[in-house]
Amino acid sequence: MIIDGKELAARLKSGMARRVAQLRELYGRVPMLAVVLVGENPASRSYIRGKIKAAGEVGIESLLVELPVTVSESELLANIERLNADERVDGVLVQLPLPDHICENRVIASIALEKDVDGFHPLNVARLWRGEECMLPCTPKGIMRMLADNNIEADGKRAVVVGRSNIVGLPMAKSLLNANATVTIAHSHTKNLGDITREADILVVAAGCAHLIGADMIKEGAVVIDVGINHDAVTGKLCGDVDFEACRNRASYISPVPGGVGPMTICMLMDNTIECFERRRK
Ligand code: GUN
Repeated sequence: MIIDGKELAARLKSGMARRVAQLRELYGRVPMLAVVLVGENPASRSYIRGKIKAAGEVGIESLLVELPVTVSESELLANIERLNADERVDGVLVQLPLPDHICENRVIASIALEKDVDGFHPLNVARLWRGEECMLPCTPKGIMRMLADNNIEADGKRAVVVGRSNIVGLPMAKSLLNANATVTIAHSHTKNLGDITREADILVVAAGCAHLIGADMIKEGAVVIDVGINHDAVTGKLCGDVDFEACRNRASYISPVPGGVGPMTICMLMDNTIECFERRRK
């Protein structure tokens, strides 16, 4: 079975569009997402285009703040302060990565907690790991929805997450743990990766490495979720970390790239923006 993230995201976004219309009736305004882009990274620009397009589809207003690659950290922090204080703004997202002269941790920590739509603020991270209510980062949230939508139960299963980033790997592992899976985190220093991934009932791959996972590295009947966004070195086409064609007949469920996790990540950003709007009004 192919897990169609694009179709699920479209379905969820039409529900969100109805909710946003209700919010407009209730409050006389709609949620607003501010997106901060520093520099000209083409991948970042492409992701941001997708986020702003999705906002338009559900009726969320967006505000793009573009800053030059030479912007100082203090100027960036001043821009975030301004968005934090702006009553009309419900969510603040700073697209990562940032240029080397800017401290990413300091910037993330400066975002107002109640506007942290990415769930990257250290207090949100602490809440997640303490098992408290939190703003869950968009990619793990999207993947948990993909599993739920396909009635895939994590409780008691062996889950393996390949990748240990703050954006995906770590919050993904904790989300699966919260769902009572037995979780292993593998990464670039893991020896004999295949021995680990073959144990997985649920395998989430977020390594950023094209063709990392072949059919010989998954268990028959595994659920395989591919977070990778790479360009195939030969064809130049978008591809994930999993060899989709090789794995599709061995997996019970598999998510494609494109059309799998990517649209769900963006969709959950809309969900988090609506959540911030509603919490700020409670
Ligand atoms: N860079 C790659 N993924 C993300 C994300 O989910 N949020 C932000 N802010 N930057 C990213």
